[in-house]
Amino acid sequence: MHIFIKKKYINEILEKTDILEVIQSKIEIKKTGKNYSAVCPFHQESKPSFTVYHHKQYFYCFGCKIHGNVIDFLMQYEKISFVESIQTLAKITGIKITQYKKKTTNQKEYINQINQYHVLKKISYIYHKNIQFNHSYLAKIYLKKRNINSKMINEFQIGYCHHKFCILNNILSNKKKYIPILEKEGLLKIKNNIPYDTLQYRIIFPIKNQFGKVIGFGGRSIYQYEPKYINSPTTTIFNKSHNVYGIDKIDKIKKPPYILIVEGYFDVISLTQYKIYNVVALLGTIITKYQISMLFKFTDQLIYCYDGDKAGKIAIWKTFKNILPYVNHQKSVKFIFLSPGEDPDSTIHSKGKNYFLKKIQYAKNILDCFIKIIFKKMHLYSISDKAKILHITIPLINKINDPYIKISLKQKLGNIIGITDEIRLNQIFYTKKKKNYTHNYKLNNIRILMSLIIQYPVLHLCIPYHMNELKKINIKGIKFFIEIFNICKKYNCNHTGQIIEIYRKKKNINIIKQLSCLKNMINKKNIKITFIQIIKKIYHTTLIKKYNKLIIKDRLKKINKTEKNILWLINKTIAKNK
Ligand code: CTP
Ligand code: MN
Repeated sequence: MHIFIKKKYINEILEKTDILEVIQSKIEIKKTGKNYSAVCPFHQESKPSFTVYHHKQYFYCFGCKIHGNVIDFLMQYEKISFVESIQTLAKITGIKITQYKKKTTNQKEYINQINQYHVLKKISYIYHKNIQFNHSYLAKIYLKKRNINSKMINEFQIGYCHHKFCILNNILSNKKKYIPILEKEGLLKIKNNIPYDTLQYRIIFPIKNQFGKVIGFGGRSIYQYEPKYINSPTTTIFNKSHNVYGIDKIDKIKKPPYILIVEGYFDVISLTQYKIYNVVALLGTIITKYQISMLFKFTDQLIYCYDGDKAGKIAIWKTFKNILPYVNHQKSVKFIFLSPGEDPDSTIHSKGKNYFLKKIQYAKNILDCFIKIIFKKMHLYSISDKAKILHITIPLINKINDPYIKISLKQKLGNIIGITDEIRLNQIFYTKKKKNYTHNYKLNNIRILMSLIIQYPVLHLCIPYHMNELKKINIKGIKFFIEIFNICKKYNCNHTGQIIEIYRKKKNINIIKQLSCLKNMINKKNIKITFIQIIKKIYHTTLIKKYNKLIIKDRLKKINKTEKNILWLINKTIAKNK
């Protein structure tokens, strides 16, 4: 059954929780002026740029730009799902959310994730069971060719999608109910009204989260079909750049001395087959800050295995950029470079376990790799190319939070470029001041209005005289403003966090978020009056525009009776409101 958390519960929870209390119970936070600030728990930093806006019930980090309401905070901090976050808050506030409801069309967004997990588990089981049957012999031959033994097939619940209607033929009851979910999960596609398996003729790797729940799938074509791999699309519980394959197998009891990071499914499985454990794969992405911070929760050392031929490519700068902020005296990252054309899967099978263990033993520290690469590049190119490399590397070094590491790298770079003088070196490092967080939009009346209602939703209680008239005005943004205003009224919102929640999955959420941080420079005392005045002003400006238009028309003698009437009415209104 589809189950949901009703909007009214979410709203009630948001009304009864205090974001400050919740955050305070997790991290140390200090009052700074009007707001509260802390060292951001989501990225490495030494100066606090994590800000909690108490009156808005909203948090924002000026460093890593992470933001949201209390539900988002818990989701990110505890690495839990939306529903789990709400359940946690319900417990804190003592609200009983027993009444899960069946799906109705306008509750589509709240497809319950518990249900999603259940379906994926079932599908995973179907695929895996399937591989044991005769009709999957091609898949078995394929896995055998790739040296994967049956123990690993079971351990990783590897499966197979043997033809077009594999899932549907296996789900016996209530097929219709499953189709929309399976479509959303990217497992079915519909062509000429007939659903068929997206992953047909592919070996299936279930991707699990850290708690062992299936959250998506990867499918490797056993023929030479393109693309080689198809992965689940982003859903409410799966995001390629937030998860890693193999995280469920990490030792959560004993802190492993390292976690190996590899590129693909087969790399994880083959290394495990050779009893090299604590391996995860990135699923074809450059490592992200989410993945790094998640992995550092389980270990102090990450060892990143690069396929030999990829090391020199641009990806390595991006990898450095994402990793360096997390490196410090406690957390280290090392690199293994394999021979060109090899990956961990091919290496372990061709060269064996001991060779690989040696590679791990002699893995190179990221800081040494960084310097080595800079050094190599510096010797290869002209002065302007060197300047280019400095341009890339200086911001990377500036990203490091550990002061000792940062200074040492700076000095090393100085040695390479032949500038050892401290003052000069600093000139190179700090040529430009960091830009402040600015909005790339201009302030206009509509935006100010929107920011006001988002930041002070209680404004919905004052019903500006011209509010009704606004609906008839055709200027950009006005409809959206009215929509927000009406939503605040409908849900009786009194802080920003609630609005963010209502717009969570709507297409305008980013505008709402940007406006919720917009500095409109209006004194708090004058909020209400400004709000009303702006509405009045917008109304009047449009009236005057309309008036002028009609006057011109009148001069050309093209005005009809109704228009004359309008002109008279406008004239009266303008005169009255002067
Ligand atoms: N990948 C993907 N989509 C592709 C290619 C790759 O999602 N079209 C992901 C997969 O997770 C894959 C990983 O990137 O495992 C590494 O890709 P690659 O090095 O190309 O493949 P291998 O893992 O070596 O795959 P195989 O050994 O099966 O050829
Ligand atoms: Mn491979």
